[in-house]
Amino acid sequence: MKKILVTGGTGFIGSHTAVELQQHGYEVVIVDNLSNSSVDVLDNIAKITGTRPAFEQFDLADQARTAKFFREHHDLSGIIHFAAYKAAGESMEKPLEYYRNNTGSLINILEGMRDNGIRDIVFSSSCTVYGQPDQLPVTEDSPFKTAWSPYGNTKQICEDILRFSSQLLPVRVIALRYFNPIGAHESALIGELPLGVPNNLVPYITQTAIGKRECLSVFGNNYNTPDGTAIRDYIHVVDLANAHVIAVERMIREKCKSRMEIFNLGTGEGYTVMEVIRSFERVSGVKLNYKIVSRRPGDVEKVWADTRLANEELGWKAVRTLDEMMLSAWNWEKALAQRQ
Ligand code: UFG
Repeated sequence: MKKILVTGGTGFIGSHTAVELQQHGYEVVIVDNLSNSSVDVLDNIAKITGTRPAFEQFDLADQARTAKFFREHHDLSGIIHFAAYKAAGESMEKPLEYYRNNTGSLINILEGMRDNGIRDIVFSSSCTVYGQPDQLPVTEDSPFKTAWSPYGNTKQICEDILRFSSQLLPVRVIALRYFNPIGAHESALIGELPLGVPNNLVPYITQTAIGKRECLSVFGNNYNTPDGTAIRDYIHVVDLANAHVIAVERMIREKCKSRMEIFNLGTGEGYTVMEVIRSFERVSGVKLNYKIVSRRPGDVEKVWADTRLANEELGWKAVRTLDEMMLSAWNWEKALAQRQ
């Protein structure tokens, strides 16, 4: 059985990817420091798949500890690297923590790969590298725009580190640029678990609907969009997870066309904030309490993916609709409420 390291595997996207990997016959080893996730996720992965993934709790920014891990796991067939700090707003308050954590852990992993002959890494990147693109839908060859937050900048820097590593070291890379991952596993056993007040739209919607939050603030209704609210390309987390399995298989089967490949992962459809709210109300039957407030600093007006490269090269396509995303997110929120 081929063994894949999933860093950040108890997190939102990591846990869904661990499930899909196991269901496709891979052995999964998770490394996570649990700084933004719970160890209980492992039990819930086991409930879905019948197998509890191997787990080691440590910080990948710890160079010596990471080197030890790689010496013990030199038989890895590949790595999917999710573990990172991910809140753009928080990175404005803790810029150096973001730079140290996000770039330091990647460098430690690349050293571990180099020193132990592990060739393949799939990297979690983001559409944030594009900023507000000049042309929509945005293609993978659109230029990076100056990042507005240290968080976004770490994704750009990490892609640069990977580009040179793929040229100068025996390392091969697939960087996946996610648009807006939302939703949860259909079992409602795993999903997004934001600590404290959510920054992202969908957990804020479901928490408001369940009564944990009073009212959703819609950030701006004077954008140049059909209803004035900002447009994003929302993608179901299970569709996203499946793209990672395909990326790993592409590397293992020697299908890559260059030493570093980059793919947008979205649906190719943009929805406004109001359309997301309406979808939620439709599938849940709950009337959402929301108010329009001013724009959030750093938000782009609209972005959605050109997904042709992923569709054609990876043979992957997002299939789940916005309504399915919202319903699964709602079922997850309700399941969480029952557990608490
Ligand atoms: N929004 C609201 N109210 C909220 C939360 C969000 O109206 O309470 C709006 C935002 O203004 C935006 C949309 O909902 O128009 C989506 O916002 P999210 O916070 O869910 O997601 P972002 O598009 O801001 O996030 C993306 C990436 C992040 C990245 C960020 C900044 O998912 O990884 O862009 O570039 F950090």
